[in-house]
Amino acid sequence: MRTQVGIIGAGPAGLLLSHLLAGHGIESVVLEARDRDYVEHRVRAGVLEQPTVDLLRASGVGERLDRQGMVHEGIELRFDGAGHRIDFAALTGSTITVYGQQEVVKDLIAARLAAGGTIRFEAKATAVDGIDGTRPTIQFEGGELACDVVAGCDGFWGIARDAVPAGALSVYERQYPFAWLGILAEVPPSSKELIYCSHERGFALHSMRSPQLTRLYLQVDPDDAVDAWPDERIWTELGTRLAVRDGDWTLGDGPIVDKGITPMRSFVVEPMRHGRLFLAGDAAHIVPPTGAKGMNLAVNDVRILAEALAKWFKEGDEGPLDAYTAACLGRVWRAQHFSWWMTSMLHRFPEDDAFQRRLQLAQLAWVTGSRAAATGLAENYPGVVGTRG
Ligand code: FAD
Ligand code: DHB
Repeated sequence: MRTQVGIIGAGPAGLLLSHLLAGHGIESVVLEARDRDYVEHRVRAGVLEQPTVDLLRASGVGERLDRQGMVHEGIELRFDGAGHRIDFAALTGSTITVYGQQEVVKDLIAARLAAGGTIRFEAKATAVDGIDGTRPTIQFEGGELACDVVAGCDGFWGIARDAVPAGALSVYERQYPFAWLGILAEVPPSSKELIYCSHERGFALHSMRSPQLTRLYLQVDPDDAVDAWPDERIWTELGTRLAVRDGDWTLGDGPIVDKGITPMRSFVVEPMRHGRLFLAGDAAHIVPPTGAKGMNLAVNDVRILAEALAKWFKEGDEGPLDAYTAACLGRVWRAQHFSWWMTSMLHRFPEDDAFQRRLQLAQLAWVTGSRAAATGLAENYPGVVGTRG
């Protein structure tokens, strides 16, 4: 099999890249290890920044997003038993849209298949060769794909990054001493907006997917197995952490239809290009989910990569491809800092003493009480700063 751009991974990065390239008349083949049903039902991110929504809409995959996405003008930070709203619309004129990542994935798969695009499911890539030359190849379970360029969009655990010779990549990494237990429950959301909650027992997050579906997260021990968290324990813990002092709010519960535990890390490799291999999305960088940035960064990478590849294929101009890493990394590091900052402000670290907790509460009081500090959050969370590289 032969194509212009061989794409490994049918997550948001790989699928959107294939879709954007098709818009430029550039051929691609997407190789995906899992089956279609699995990737369409993997519950993960939910928050889209405005630039992400704009790009999906402009490229023709925004129809269902516009109908079903929930536009939010702010979030709540809850601590010490009380809620404090950060009003993005008032502070920076920006909004976010809550729309499940798996819905973005479904929309992109439908668009690619309707346009005659090729996505090979259950085609796990096993090796990438020849990236220092002009005819790279991807070996996959079921065959070989020859191409002009390889896009490694295969997430943190993929194989594309391994094709870069040892020593050519710098790795920046931090692990966190906790994980997130995420659930999806068949119950209407208990709040109109997202609630990020800092509690002595750990972080909790109330989010949603639709007027009938609530998405909730709890900070848990990184060694915990899902079995350690039967439904009743989850609801009790969520109720305790999210409780308000005046008792004027209750968390609705309902059947849990999805449950999973995700470890937390910060990770960046530089550069994001080696020869004819380009890394994009989680294959190149991971953020802890507290800032809701991961999918938005993946989308931004492939926006830049698609434009650079179009210049190269159409005009032979290699300048934008040479500038790919630098064009992505400004935003990546802004998001790295913001995600680390939100994580540190809202979670309990095992080594934290009473002094550290007081510092956290003082910081939360400042962020919610000062217009200047709140504006910092309202610039970062919806993606107002750092959006263009
Ligand atoms: P992935 O979605 O990981 O896609 C990679 C694809 O490659 C997968 O389909 C995988 O099966 C495939 N693959 C892997 N190896 C191979 C191989 N060898 N051959 C072929 N295919 C392969 N981000 C946000 O922006 N907002 C949020 O609110 C948010 N919340 C999150 C909450 C949780 C609990 C988690 C886990 C993540 C969250 N994220 C969030 C992050 C977001 O989900 C990721 O950043 C996003 O999925 C990255 O997209 P990607 O396409 O780069 O990688
Ligand atoms: C969701 C996930 C996040 O990581 C976050 O910060 C906010 C919301 C969600 O899945 O809805």
